[in-house]
Amino acid sequence: MSAPNSSYDPVEVTPLQPDEVARMREEALAAIAAADSLEKLKEVRIAHAGDRSPLALANREIGALPPSARAEAGKRVGGARRDVAEALKERQTVLEEERDNRVLVEEAVDVTLPWDRVPRGARHPLTTVAERMTDIFVGMGFEVAEGPETEAEWFNFDALNFLPDHPARTMQDTFFLEAPSGGESGLVLRTHTSPVQIRALLDREPPVYVVAPGKTFRTDELDATHSPVFHQLEGLVVDEGITMAHLRGAIDAFVHGMFGADLRTRFRPSYFPFTEPSAEVDMECFVCRGASVGDPDAPCRTCGSEGWIEIGGCGVVNPRVLTAAGVDTGRYSGWAFGLGVERTLMFAHGVEDMHDMVEGDIRFTSAFGMEI
Ligand code: PHE
Repeated sequence: MSAPNSSYDPVEVTPLQPDEVARMREEALAAIAAADSLEKLKEVRIAHAGDRSPLALANREIGALPPSARAEAGKRVGGARRDVAEALKERQTVLEEERDNRVLVEEAVDVTLPWDRVPRGARHPLTTVAERMTDIFVGMGFEVAEGPETEAEWFNFDALNFLPDHPARTMQDTFFLEAPSGGESGLVLRTHTSPVQIRALLDREPPVYVVAPGKTFRTDELDATHSPVFHQLEGLVVDEGITMAHLRGAIDAFVHGMFGADLRTRFRPSYFPFTEPSAEVDMECFVCRGASVGDPDAPCRTCGSEGWIEIGGCGVVNPRVLTAAGVDTGRYSGWAFGLGVERTLMFAHGVEDMHDMVEGDIRFTSAFGMEI
């Protein structure tokens, strides 16, 4: 700031002279035009419109002028400051717009790009365990067969030698979808994977070596050991000279592959309309290996201290079934089995409650090392 004005020329001090004000204005406008970034414009604003800028300092001199000269000088300096302020504002708008456009290009995000941490979902342990079970048989040369979940009553029952009044047909076990009409078979949700036996035999000529994993349905309430929807792995062999000894060998190979190489198996007599003879398949308890039997001090939760675990049913294919499927019973014989997938998962991984398998909580699935 200049010194008090008393000794000055009473007309005007240098900073207020028209040429000087015009020069300061031009200088400011040139600097504004040259500012090519918002940062630079900020510096220009301080230098040319700030409190210590030449025009602001000039403005302060006005008060020291004789009253008659103030209006004139005020107009001059005020006009120049207004022009500078306006130019700053305009340049600010332009530079902001440029910055926004540049950011839009430089920081553009492709929202369609996949993000590697999006949960992808994973296969359910029941699926992977059914696949492992299937693989053991595929390794022995079996082929994988399939059938529909909504099945003709004829495939689910009649062709498998269930007589019309067999208790398994009643409402207690079966979800009926459509009643038989006009000679057409009724429709049910398949109660087991055994109808795939018939479909496999109708589809191909012996020798037949197939396994069929799949969903099955029965009118059971969901509890710790039952579910209205469950899974089985069906197996069927039809060839020349097939005996129950081959069945035992195949079951042993399965149990050894799935649970442990040295586990024993046993067959208990049973009944199924489509096999004769029929058996329930047990394997030795892989936890206590029978040690818990008759030892109340060391109960086994896995086998309920039975020493054996039931894993499915099996038997020699009833010749009536072969006949229903058009197989020459004079030449061919066979056997079949049905293994429970849920039971296999329960025993192979210590899953104790069926609810865990059906409720879809991903914490259950993640515990199997699935990448969700
Ligand atoms: N289908 C029978 C069941 O669901 C199991 C089985 C299959 C038995 C094949 C014998 C032969 O219980």
